[in-house]
Amino acid sequence: MSNRPNHIAIIMDGNGRWAKERNMNRTAGHERGAEVVRTITSFCSIHPEIERLTLYAFSTENWKRPKLEVEFLMKLLEKYLKNEQKNYLEENVRFEPIGDLSIFSKSLRKVIDDLQSVTQGCNGLVQSLALNYGGRDEIVRAVNNLFPSTPITVEQLSNALDCKHDIDLLIRTGGDHRLSNFLLWQAAYAELFFTNTLWPEFTSVELESIIKKFKTVERRFGGLN
Ligand code: IPE
Ligand code: IPE
Ligand code: MG
Repeated sequence: MSNRPNHIAIIMDGNGRWAKERNMNRTAGHERGAEVVRTITSFCSIHPEIERLTLYAFSTENWKRPKLEVEFLMKLLEKYLKNEQKNYLEENVRFEPIGDLSIFSKSLRKVIDDLQSVTQGCNGLVQSLALNYGGRDEIVRAVNNLFPSTPITVEQLSNALDCKHDIDLLIRTGGDHRLSNFLLWQAAYAELFFTNTLWPEFTSVELESIIKKFKTVERRFGGLN
């Protein structure tokens, strides 16, 4: 029996590079990106096996980007969510945002709320947009919701873990591409390398070559270099 892709999550990355390749402004890449959100959501809405599509649209680190780009993204998001209402209803897609929405402008929050309530009765695909989402922020907010009288910070949670150190380079041998519940928090911005080599055959030569590749990767941590 084959696996069912019930819940698909996508890190929608590469808008800026797409635009740069075409000598266009990064914003043009974001505009195109929004169109692709529409086509991919449509596809998933008619795919019988897909129940949920979670899309990473804006991270807690993306605020580090230039003000103009952030402003553009906020406007684009507002416009998209407003104009798409009809399509969500036609395709029977329920909208469920995740992330800390409290930071957004009143008008953006209203558009988010409206789309969520208008599509509440849709029982097809659930499309979750991750907005001002950070894996760590989500966990800290969950803990603080559970224990509101003793609020904690990201740093405090980091320091309470067994492994208190962020991972820079995470390697998996054996050909599978998953985390298998290993260092979820610590790997938040780790560079992931997967190799088909089986562990008994892994050598320091291969490790060296992975480290060499790792050294050339541009690590952005949500900002722009
Ligand atoms: C993803 O594309 C969209 C957001 C993070 C908002 P990028 O803007 O990160 O595009 P690249 O990575 O610079 O190409
Ligand atoms: C991840 O992309 C966030 C989204 C796609 C929304 P980034 O472009 O922010 O990630 P880094 O900075 O390359 O790690
Ligand atoms: Mg990127």
